Amino acid sequence: MPTSIKVKKGLIEKERSEAIIIPKYQDVGKLDGVFAHLNRATGGRLRAHLNSGEFQGKLNQVSILHTNGELPAKRIVLVGLGKKPLARLDAIRQAMGTVSKVMRSLELTSFTLVAPDRGIAGMPLDTTIQAMIEGCLLGLYQFLHYQPSRAKETKLVQVITLVTRDEKAVSMVRAGAQRGHTIAEATNSVRDLCNHPSNVLTPTTLAAEAKTIAKARSIQCTILNRAKARKLGMGAYLGVAQGSHEPPQFIVLEYTGATKGKNPIVLVGKAVTFDTGGISLKPSENMERMKADMTGGAIVLQAIRAIATLKLPINVVGIVPSTENMPGGLATKPGDILTSLSGKTIEVLNTDAEGRLILADALAYAMRYKPVAVIDIATLTGAVFISLGCHAIGLLGNNDTLIDRVKRVGDSIGERAWQLPLWDEYKEQIKSDVADVRNIGGRGGGTITAAAFLSHFVDDKYPWVHLDIAGTDWGESARPYIPKGPTGIGARLVIELLRDLSSKPL
Ligand code: BES
Ligand code: ZN
Ligand code: ZN
Repeated sequence: MPTSIKVKKGLIEKERSEAIIIPKYQDVGKLDGVFAHLNRATGGRLRAHLNSGEFQGKLNQVSILHTNGELPAKRIVLVGLGKKPLARLDAIRQAMGTVSKVMRSLELTSFTLVAPDRGIAGMPLDTTIQAMIEGCLLGLYQFLHYQPSRAKETKLVQVITLVTRDEKAVSMVRAGAQRGHTIAEATNSVRDLCNHPSNVLTPTTLAAEAKTIAKARSIQCTILNRAKARKLGMGAYLGVAQGSHEPPQFIVLEYTGATKGKNPIVLVGKAVTFDTGGISLKPSENMERMKADMTGGAIVLQAIRAIATLKLPINVVGIVPSTENMPGGLATKPGDILTSLSGKTIEVLNTDAEGRLILADALAYAMRYKPVAVIDIATLTGAVFISLGCHAIGLLGNNDTLIDRVKRVGDSIGERAWQLPLWDEYKEQIKSDVADVRNIGGRGGGTITAAAFLSHFVDDKYPWVHLDIAGTDWGESARPYIPKGPTGIGARLVIELLRDLSSKPL
């Protein structure tokens, strides 16, 4: 059962609860607001506890005070936000992720959060509440689908209650909580899709997921199978799919939140459900991670689901070219030349550079919509990990305004993107002797030459950004609200970017 979120007006010192969670800055000594109320209720024990020096409020530090019946709540749980002048909104997400996991480890099935009087880090109240709920739900994420007995043993957090003293704040708290819930669920669904192994999560399963999402009103779903894609001339996409027995599925979701016919924003997501490298076979070490080579596609599907739930007043099309990359008997071989949907020919010199091939046809297909903006997201190059590590998404494109918007949104929500240059010189590296373009660009600037390849299939009159998430999609170890393994990073960025574009068009 998923965790449910409740919002209510009330006095925290009167609240019956397993635990009341109180975030605290490191360098603020004054006990006002909720601290003063709880200090009074505990006969000064809260102050004494803080004076003991055991808990300083360092970021993600947790300390538990049992109330021994002094108030209806059983525990007061302090969690640190770090130093106030340094605090970003992400501190609250981290602190909530950390403390939620502690609550679950104590086998508490519910806990209570106190809504702050105003937003933190200069952010509005609803944005702060959203971040709190995101932190809790993202932090509590677990994937136990294939461990039913472990799943049975684990006590799950069933209810999180947000309490505010202020009647007038209730609707704002509720709005923030609902948004946080929707966006965290979308992200967790991306993680689920990436965690499922490739024998379960095939292009056909992904297409079924798209159809389920499209059951919501105002979403239309079209699936092109191999024959239909062939008829349209998607030679680059089919060139990747032809090595696999698993039927490819080219998925299109159309969300109409604004006037019908109004030009949409188009999202394109790479969905290679397993990338063996094809004939240019990958080394076996860590190859299992290539089950998550569909992260971009999963993000596009879940973003569409989220914006439909949020009822954003924009039109959005999601395009998810989905296939396996396998070295079957019919597979594309190095040196083969493919004719793409755009008409441009591609010399395939490395079959492991398959993401750009499927995106070439998806981007060309996107042009049919005369999009106001195109955003593609893909686990495209190992090189992006070399340049940026796991802390930034690679960001390239043809429009500085859109690039700046992505960067700004990413900074504010804690999924940062960093721009790499896309100068014409890089296009030289992918010139072919025998075709219009080749699919690899030599050793230098791998992330950039991949984007330069994609730019061949985007008409420059449409603003376009490319997000390379191959460095951020998989975590080596757990972080406060990001698990080890598939991270879902990029989902919040895409959803928040759409929110931003729906309130302020480009
Ligand atoms: N799916 C991979 C990129 C990738 C690497 C994703 C590591 C996640 C983690 C992509 O299809 C690929 O294999 N790219 C090649 C391109 C090269 C052949 C030019 C790469 O990065 O090595
Ligand atoms: Zn590959
Ligand atoms: Zn790939």
